[in-house]
Amino acid sequence: MEKQYKRYLITSALPYANGPLHIGHLAGVYVPADIYVRYLRLRGRDVLFIGGSDEHGVPITIKAREAGISPQDVVDKYHALIKESFEGLGISFDVYSRTTSAIHHKTASDFFRKLYDDGLFIERETEQYYDPEAQQFLADRYIIGACPKCGNPDAYGDQCEKCGSTLSPNELIEPRSAISGSKPEMRMTKHWYLPLDQYEPWLREWILEQHKEWKANVYGQCKSWLDGGLQPRAVSRDLDWGVPVPIEGVEAKVLYVWFDAPIGYISNTIEIRPDDWALWWKDQETKLVHFIGKDNIVFHCIVFPTMLKAHGDYILPDNVPANEFLNLEGNKISTSRNWAVWLHEYLKELSGKEDVLRYVLCANAPETKDNDFSWKDFQTRNNSELVAILGNFVHRAIVLTHKYFEGKVPALAPPDSPLGEMDKEVLAELPLLKTRIEEALEHYRFREALKECMNIARLGNKYLADTEPWKLAKTDMGRVGSILNISLQICAQLAIAFDPFLPFTTAKLRSILNTELQPWDALGQPNLLAAGHLINQAELLFDKMEDDVIQAQLAKLEATRQQNVAEGVTATPPAFEPQKAECSYDDFVKMDIRTAIVLEAERVPKTDKLLKLTINTGIDVRTIVSGIAEYYSPEQMIGKEICILANLAPRAIRGITSQGMILMAKQPDGNMRFITPQEPLGPGCVIN
Ligand code: MF3
Ligand code: ZN
Repeated sequence: MEKQYKRYLITSALPYANGPLHIGHLAGVYVPADIYVRYLRLRGRDVLFIGGSDEHGVPITIKAREAGISPQDVVDKYHALIKESFEGLGISFDVYSRTTSAIHHKTASDFFRKLYDDGLFIERETEQYYDPEAQQFLADRYIIGACPKCGNPDAYGDQCEKCGSTLSPNELIEPRSAISGSKPEMRMTKHWYLPLDQYEPWLREWILEQHKEWKANVYGQCKSWLDGGLQPRAVSRDLDWGVPVPIEGVEAKVLYVWFDAPIGYISNTIEIRPDDWALWWKDQETKLVHFIGKDNIVFHCIVFPTMLKAHGDYILPDNVPANEFLNLEGNKISTSRNWAVWLHEYLKELSGKEDVLRYVLCANAPETKDNDFSWKDFQTRNNSELVAILGNFVHRAIVLTHKYFEGKVPALAPPDSPLGEMDKEVLAELPLLKTRIEEALEHYRFREALKECMNIARLGNKYLADTEPWKLAKTDMGRVGSILNISLQICAQLAIAFDPFLPFTTAKLRSILNTELQPWDALGQPNLLAAGHLINQAELLFDKMEDDVIQAQLAKLEATRQQNVAEGVTATPPAFEPQKAECSYDDFVKMDIRTAIVLEAERVPKTDKLLKLTINTGIDVRTIVSGIAEYYSPEQMIGKEICILANLAPRAIRGITSQGMILMAKQPDGNMRFITPQEPLGPGCVIN
């Protein structure tokens, strides 16, 4: 059992208000956070879900300069757009505020001042680029010059947008100021540093010893930062956009955006809970969880906790369930290359399909590794999961109830018709599903939780197919009643279980069932709808996604690709999976990898993905069941020379024992190709 807290304070990364939201933001942060929050609320927990826009930082000032407007204009525009599109997708923040608010400026300022007064910062003078004409220091982004790698004459001091290289300002050829065009010079400037190095022993203990339960990607990143040794980090900048450094006599300096932004979580809490905000942030009975993307890990696991610790009276995050990145059609999502699916456009173009996006992004969430979004997969998940499984089951149950019982929930097991084995089995399965969903949600495994929810609908479909109530209608109306009673109870389960994931759909389902939202603990109960309760007419929960809709989206991306080519912007580099964790030579030699020849191949009945292959391994003839059918037909496999992992423990797949695994290479777009020797070798050769 999970420990129950008095309060749950759930934050999601504050997006920069310098561009619209895309599916990468959603899959990485906001969809999982919203699912978690809705689940907690259904459980009756006291929850605050904190969101807001991050409105400071250099990129915003650059965007403003380029557009000839003020930074305030930029953030006003994008804050409004972002807030509205979050609402459109049903992201249920309790507050969505902004870091330009007066409350935030005061909160961030006071926070800095407390650490300053306690003598916790280090002061340092360093040399930085300065624009003598504009009379100001230049952030790396404000220095432009030729890229030393590709010659692009307009590379930035931190990065070349043409070739993607990471740069530092002194690598640029002929550097010039983005503001005045003049040649920058070096000048001394003073800044305040948070001495992270002093907190290293404490951080090691707190993260590496006390939070071994954090996700492997998060824990691993923290460990490598800590093992690499922490350095003091500057928390101020020479800039005129941000929270002014609150020290007498200091001018034209602001707090570093990564110092002020996370304090935004506190400010936004104060904004909605002015009287008891401190309980939410300072009482040990609050569970604090930060939802973020992987590029934010160091700030949320190391820097911000150090700030909170240094301040002295704040609680620390209990968990930071960061996700990896989502790619789009095999390439990295990129704002500057317009390679993205933008939320505000989706909401316009696919209006009414908010839950489809929520579903696909959760089902494909990059929880443990980077993942790909493709429109084809989007269509398949809509048509063969939402429509064919969830929508179809609900529709059949409702229609049959109207057909045989005038829309009234029939009695369960009337006197002349006791429950059969199948009925009892289904009823017994429901509490087990509840436990599995809960277990997954409590541990931030949202994909798994969603799958288990879908299994409730699968169970319902199978139950109707197995019991065939339409065939019993002439002979045994009592039993038809029991079957439909149970089917409707399953619908009522779905209305609860899916509520965190698909809130628009469950609202519709509740209106069809003519019920109110029931609490989480009603899940698994067999009698959510009383006999005699009148339900409403059937309506489709989901529509089939036609090819032309998908084609239109693909055409849009293709146009972007062509425009990028025309403008000489290199395609976004294909997204490959990062290197796996180190393994030893001993780990490697344990694996028996060898050549083999496919003798026979056939589809495994009732599956789209599986082939049953009979193969000659040189040492025997055996069966392997492989998920290769998505990529190859049986005919394409027969006679082929392949490579296999021969000593993988046998597994039963669809009742067939699979003895080994076929080695396949995964391309950036997710396509898989089998590996074949470059010249015929014959079966049985061991590969080392
Ligand atoms: N704006 C940052 C980003 O998009 C996230 C800030 S999260 C906060 O990467 F904690 F600093 F607010
Ligand atoms: Zn370059």
